[in-house]
Amino acid sequence: MQFSSSTPFEAACISGEINPSLLELKYLKHLDLSINCFEGKVIPKFIGSFKNLRYLNLSASGFGGRVPHELGNLSTLGYLDLNNYREIWVNTSDDISHYSIVVLTYDLHVDRLDWLSGLSSLQYLDMGSVNLSTAADWLLSIKMLPSILNLQLSYCQLPNISTSRPHVNLTSLSTLDLSGNKLGPQIPTWVFNNSRLVSLDLHYNSFQYPFPATLGNHCNLQTLNLQENHFNGEINRFKESFKGCIMSNLEDLYLGGNGLSVFNVSSNWVPPFQLTYFIMDDCELGPQFPPWLQTQKQLSYLSLSNASMSNTISSIFQILPSNITYLDLSSNRLKGSIPLSICQMKDLMYLSFSNNQLTHEIPQCLWDLQYLETMDLEHNFLSGGILNSKSNFSQLTSLHLSKNKLSGELPPSMKNCRMLITLDLGENKFSGSIPKWIGENLTSLMFLILRSNMFMGNIPPQLSLLSKLQVLDLSQNNLSGKIPESFGNFSAMAIANKTKENIFSGGQVGYLESIWVLWKGSLYEYSSTISLVININLSGNDLHGEIPKGITHLFGLQSLNLSKNHLMGIIPEDISDIRWLESLDLSWNRLSGMIPHTLSYITSLNHLNLSYNNFSGRIPSGRQLDTIKDSSIYTGNPLLCGPPLLKQCPGDETHCGSQLVLGGEGAEDELVIQLLFISMAPGFVVGFWVVCGILLFKRSWRLAYYHFFDDMGNRLYVVIARKVANFKKNEG
Ligand SMILES: *[C@@H]1O[C@H](CO)[C@@H](O)[C@H](O)[C@H]1NC(C)=O
Ligand SMILES: *[C@@H]1O[C@H](CO)[C@@H](O)[C@H](O)[C@H]1NC(C)=O
Ligand SMILES: *[C@@H]1O[C@H](CO)[C@@H](O)[C@H](O)[C@H]1NC(C)=O
Ligand SMILES: *[C@@H]1O[C@H](CO)[C@@H](O)[C@H](O)[C@H]1NC(C)=O
Ligand SMILES: *[C@@H]1O[C@H](CO)[C@@H](O)[C@H](O)[C@H]1NC(C)=O
Ligand SMILES: *[C@@H]1O[C@H](CO)[C@@H](O)[C@H](O)[C@H]1NC(C)=O
Ligand SMILES: *[C@@H]1O[C@H](CO)[C@@H](O)[C@H](O)[C@H]1NC(C)=O
Ligand SMILES: *[C@@H]1O[C@H](CO)[C@@H](O)[C@H](O)[C@H]1NC(C)=O
Ligand SMILES: *[C@@H]1O[C@H](CO)[C@@H](O)[C@H](O)[C@H]1NC(C)=O
Ligand SMILES: *[C@@H]1O[C@H](CO)[C@@H](O)[C@H](O)[C@H]1NC(C)=O
Ligand SMILES: *[C@@H]1O[C@H](CO)[C@@H](O)[C@H](O)[C@H]1NC(C)=O
Repeated sequence: MQFSSSTPFEAACISGEINPSLLELKYLKHLDLSINCFEGKVIPKFIGSFKNLRYLNLSASGFGGRVPHELGNLSTLGYLDLNNYREIWVNTSDDISHYSIVVLTYDLHVDRLDWLSGLSSLQYLDMGSVNLSTAADWLLSIKMLPSILNLQLSYCQLPNISTSRPHVNLTSLSTLDLSGNKLGPQIPTWVFNNSRLVSLDLHYNSFQYPFPATLGNHCNLQTLNLQENHFNGEINRFKESFKGCIMSNLEDLYLGGNGLSVFNVSSNWVPPFQLTYFIMDDCELGPQFPPWLQTQKQLSYLSLSNASMSNTISSIFQILPSNITYLDLSSNRLKGSIPLSICQMKDLMYLSFSNNQLTHEIPQCLWDLQYLETMDLEHNFLSGGILNSKSNFSQLTSLHLSKNKLSGELPPSMKNCRMLITLDLGENKFSGSIPKWIGENLTSLMFLILRSNMFMGNIPPQLSLLSKLQVLDLSQNNLSGKIPESFGNFSAMAIANKTKENIFSGGQVGYLESIWVLWKGSLYEYSSTISLVININLSGNDLHGEIPKGITHLFGLQSLNLSKNHLMGIIPEDISDIRWLESLDLSWNRLSGMIPHTLSYITSLNHLNLSYNNFSGRIPSGRQLDTIKDSSIYTGNPLLCGPPLLKQCPGDETHCGSQLVLGGEGAEDELVIQLLFISMAPGFVVGFWVVCGILLFKRSWRLAYYHFFDDMGNRLYVVIARKVANFKKNEG
C-alpha cells in the first residue's frame, strides 16, 4: 500500500495492493477505506475473513471488478457501503480558472446477490452505482436480510421487477433508494407495503400512475422523491392519491421533471397552506404576479426569476408581505419605478431586480435598509445617482448596478461599505474622479468594476491598498496620467496558486457571487470559479507613461489589458515572471523597442496582441510564441519583421513553405478544455441544477417541484474518461 498522487485528479490517497497481513488484526471491527484510488483493482477476498467486522466502508475507493462473495461471511456486519459514485472538482490543468465537476467510477459489478443472505446483522447497505444488471435475484436476496433498515440501490442498472411479487416482506425498512434505475412502468406494490418507511427515493425511473392503493397508509413517510418519472398531466390527478395519514408527516415531496401541468388557479384562490419559501424560477408564471401570494403571511424567501412577469413593479409591492428577507424577481419584464414601499421590508437581506425594464431613480431609503447584503439592479434603465446617504451601509457585501443609466459622482458616504466584496458599476454614466477612499476604506473588495463610465483624472495609487482585490476593470473611461507604480503591490494578485473557494454574498441566504469579466475579447460570467480569476483591465483610457515594472510582481495575473491608451517605453523583460498570464493585450499604444523574447517562456499565454505600436526588430519565436501564429497581433508596427509577418528582416534568405502545422495532441486538449468549461450562472447554492422549482413549506408539509439536468453529467463523464485515457497512455 502506498500514498501517491497517481492521477491528475487526486491529492494524496491510498493505492496499490492491500496486504493480507492486515488479517492479523483479528478483532478489527471497523474498516473504512472510502475515498481512495485503488484504480479498478478488485476488492480483496480476504476482507470476508474479518470475523468481527461491524462496519465496512469501501465507498468511492476506486475498486473495480466483481464484488467477492466472500463478503457474505461477515455475519456480524452492520454497515456495508460499496457506493461506487464519486464526484470531484477538477482543475482542467491548462487553465487554472476553469474548474469542472467530474464523475469518476470504475466498473464495479455483482454477478448475483445470494451471498447477501449471510449478512444476518446488516442494517445498512449501499450499493449505489454498482452494476447489478445481472443480479436477477436481487429482490429475493434483499428479502433475506432480516435487520435491514436502510437500503441504497441508486443507479445500479437494476433488472426490472415484476409488479406484484406476493411475498416481499421488507417491513423493517425505513429508508429505500431505488433512484436512477429506469424501473417501471408500475410502482411495485411491495414498495408501498411498509408503513414504517420514512424516506423513499424513486427519482429518475420510468414509473407512471396509478400509485399502489396503500400509498395513503404511510403515516411515517417524511420524504418522497418522485422526480423525473412519468407522472404527467394535471396536478389534481396526483393530489387525489394523497389521501389518508400520509399527509400527517410528509415534509418533502419532489415532483419535478414529470411534465405536470405546474396548475390553474383563479385570481381569488386562497391556498390551504402558508409558505415560507416559494421558488418558481424559469417557469411561465406571468404575465401577472400571482395574486394569491397576498395570503402568504409567513413568506420569507421569494424567487420568481425568469417567470415571464410583466407587471409594474409597484403593483407587486401591494401584494407582497413585508417580512421578506430574500427577493429575486430578476429577468422578467417588470416596468416602472421602484416604489418607496419596498423599504417597509426592513428585514431584506437579498434583493435582485436585475434584467428588467425599471426606470427612474433608486429610492434613497433602499440604502438605509440595515440588513441588506446584496443589491443587484443590473441591466435596467435606472437613472439618477447614488445619493449621499446618512446610512452606514454596514452589511452590504455585493452591489451590482451595471448596465443602467446611473450618473453623478460616487458619494463619500460609500466609504462606509467596509464589507463590500463586489462593486460593479460598469456601463453607466458615472463621472468625476475615482475616489482614493475606495482604496483606503473598502478593504474587503475583491472585484472592482467601473468599466464604461465617464470617470476621469488620475488613477489613485491608493487602490493598491486593496489587499484582496483580484479583478480591477477601469476600462473605457477617460482616465489620464500614469499607471501608478504601486500597482505592483496588489497582494492578492501576487498569489499564483489560488485555491477555489465559493464567494458568497447574502450571508444566511447564501447566494453565490458572480461577475462579468472581459476575457480574451469576450464577456464571460464567472460564478463558482470567480475566486480564481485575476485580471487587470485599464484599456480604452488616456493613460500615458510607461508600463510600471512592478506589474511583473503580480505573479498570479491571468489577463492584462492595457490596449487603447498612450503608453510609451518598452515591455519589461521580466514579463515572463507572470507565469499564469493567458492574455496580454497591449495593442493601440506607443510602445517601442524589441519585443522581449522572454514572452515565449510564458507557457500559459494563448492570447497576445501587440498590434498598432512602434515595436521594432525581429519578432521573437520559439516555445509558446510558435503556437500563436496570427499575424494580426503584430500589424501596425512598421519596424517589425520576420514571421508571421510577410516582411523579411534584413539578411534573411527566402524560405519556401516553412509553415509547421500544430495538430494532434495539442489540438485535442484544446477541444477537451472547451467542452469542460463551465461558467455557472448565479444561483441558489444548493441547486445549480434546479431550474424550474416550487418549494412550499409548511411545518409538516413541503412540496417541491425540481428539475435536474443529468445529461450534462453524462457528457462530462465521457469527455473526462477520454482525458484520463490519454493521460494513462502518456504515462505508460
Ligand atoms: C462511507 O464513507 C463515505 C465517505 O467517507 C461517507 O460519506 C459515508 O457516509 C460512509 N458510509 C457510512 C455507512 O458510514
Ligand atoms: C467464505 O465464503 C466463501 C464463498 O461464499 C466460501 O467458499 C468460504 O468457505 C467462506 N469462508 C469461511 C471461512 O467461512
Ligand atoms: C414480515 O417479517 C417480519 C419479521 O421480519 C414478521 O414478523 C412478519 O410476520 C412478516 N410478515 C409477513 C406478512 O410475512
Ligand atoms: C403487503 O403486506 C401484507 C401484510 O402486511 C401481506 O399480506 C401482503 O402479501 C403484502 N403485499 C405484497 C405485495 O408484498
Ligand atoms: C389553464 O389556463 C390556461 C390559460 O387560461 C389555459 O390555456 C389552459 O388550457 C388551462 N389548463 C387547464 C388544465 O385547465
Ligand atoms: C427562462 O425560462 C425559459 C423557460 O420558461 C427557458 O427556456 C430559458 O432558457 C430561461 N432563460 C434563462 C436566461 O435562464
Ligand atoms: C476627458 O477628460 C478631459 C480632461 O481630462 C476632457 O477635456 C475631455 O473632454 C474628456 N473627454 C470625455 C469624452 O469626457
Ligand atoms: C509597495 O508596498 C511596500 C510594502 O508595503 C512599500 O514599502 C512600497 O512603498 C509600496 N510601493 C509603492 C509604489 O507604493
Ligand atoms: C482589451 O480591451 C479592448 C477595449 O476595451 C477590447 O476591445 C479588447 O477586446 C480587449 N482585449 C482582450 C484580449 O480582451
Ligand atoms: C518609433 O521608434 C523609433 C525607434 O525604434 C523612433 O525612431 C521613432 O521615432 C518612433 N516612431 C514614433 C512614431 O514614435
Ligand atoms: C489584435 O488587435 C487588432 C487591433 O485591435 C485587431 O484587428 C486584431 O483582430 C487583434 N488580433 C487578435 C488575434 O485578437
